[in-house]
Amino acid sequence: MFNASNAAVAVLSPSHTAQIEGATFLNLLIVDDDRTTREACREVAQSLGFNTQVAESAEQAYRLLDSSSPDAVLLDLRPPCSGSLEMLHAIKKHRADALVILVTGYGTVQSAVQAMKDGAYDYVTKPFSMEELRLLLNRVATHLRLKTENRVLQETIKSRQGFGNIIGRAPEMEKLYRIIAKAGQSSHPVLILGESGTGKELVAKSIHFAGMFRNKPFIPVDCGSLVPTLIESELFGHVRGAFTGATNPKDGLLAIAEGGTVFLDEIGELPVDLQAKLLRAIQEKEIRPVGSVKRVPINVRILAATNRALERAVTEGTFRRDLFFRLNVLTLRIPPLRERRQDIPLLVAHFLERIGRDAGMEKTISDDSLKALMSYDWPGNVRELENSLERACALSSANQIQMRDLPTQIHSAPIDVLAMSQPNNGIVPMAELEKQTILSALTQVNGDKMLAARLLKIGKTTLYRKLKEYESQPNL
Ligand SMILES: Nc1ncnc2c1ncn2[C@@H]1O[C@H](COP(=O)(O)OP(=O)(O)O)[C@@H](O)[C@H]1O
Ligand SMILES: [Mg+2]
Repeated sequence: MFNASNAAVAVLSPSHTAQIEGATFLNLLIVDDDRTTREACREVAQSLGFNTQVAESAEQAYRLLDSSSPDAVLLDLRPPCSGSLEMLHAIKKHRADALVILVTGYGTVQSAVQAMKDGAYDYVTKPFSMEELRLLLNRVATHLRLKTENRVLQETIKSRQGFGNIIGRAPEMEKLYRIIAKAGQSSHPVLILGESGTGKELVAKSIHFAGMFRNKPFIPVDCGSLVPTLIESELFGHVRGAFTGATNPKDGLLAIAEGGTVFLDEIGELPVDLQAKLLRAIQEKEIRPVGSVKRVPINVRILAATNRALERAVTEGTFRRDLFFRLNVLTLRIPPLRERRQDIPLLVAHFLERIGRDAGMEKTISDDSLKALMSYDWPGNVRELENSLERACALSSANQIQMRDLPTQIHSAPIDVLAMSQPNNGIVPMAELEKQTILSALTQVNGDKMLAARLLKIGKTTLYRKLKEYESQPNL
């Protein structure tokens, strides 16, 4: 019997992966009045891991449909199609989400088209090879697994989401949570590195709120968006008359945050003279407001973030080495989203839950849309994902997000072997095919390398070696 909660454990927890192998947990009903075909189909399905049931007549099939609940049905009844169509309607009524694959004879493609309109998942024309059937059933299994994953993730999101407000269960993220928890217990500076939209500010907040001084202020300052003179007066404060327009004195944020945290976002953009002033403030624990001769003591924790390679800026002379060392006591590197695709369904569920709550309606996503989101490269990382979902929900008043609601660049994302092959007269290099097979297997099993190696029937050392090659030669 298909059991969604078991499947959930299998999908979510690598420690239970021994339970999933191909299509395990998926029930396939084979309806065929020809014994030889029936048995051949059963053999292929079982080799893929399906639990199978067979029926040789419509009566028997109806009885089985009453007593069990198949995830997919392979349907071939004579006289061609009329009985099959009737049964298709019955199955769809009985269990709308079961996938029905119609077997049609030559010359009955018309009925197959009708069947697709009536909700069949696919059809296969006789005579078909076992290889054809294997490919089709593989597709069915993937579709069903993704669907379950999508549904189950929606249900389990709350208890398994990550650290505080940070969503993600990829191993790199788990490592990050441990460092955040540790960083919360100290008052040293932390340098947070990551591409734009990876959640640097979110991580900074988590460090602050996981720490001892969580009741004190958390003050973000964007060093990239303020003009230099303004950053100086924001951070250090100024006295009245310090510059034109300074009609009132102002305390600096480094002083206002007393006992709390100042988060210096885009620290790489800080002008060099201010870098010197900041370094002095950190070392001497005091600041001098613009236009003042007096020093003001400060007691503040500094967190800094950048999407730039600061080491390079140091060698190029645009970032002070001494400040870099000061800030770099502890470094946190947040991986880009494309390196932890297994977190995408979790993030999607999280954002849809929030958007849905705000809109007062439940928001879900179609399976093919989720698949497209998982294949896309996300140059803008989590922020881009969040924005895409918000836009999709704003575009459509329906409950479920469809492909057409997603930005166009995401549509073309699914790995398209044919498109990639264009420069080579339609011939795809073996290495490319192999790479795509491996990467798509990994995506399907949520990044579980052991399981992927087993399903691909290659050794795990081979898999690790290949992944290393892809990392070092991205254009392979
Ligand atoms: N792991 C995550 N879980 C949940 N939301 C995230 C995560 N990472 C980023 N976000 C969200 O994405 C958006 C961008 O994050 P932000 O911290 O501003 O990124 P950065 O500072 O790196 O550009 C924010 O709305 C943030 O809440
Ligand atoms: Mg930011």
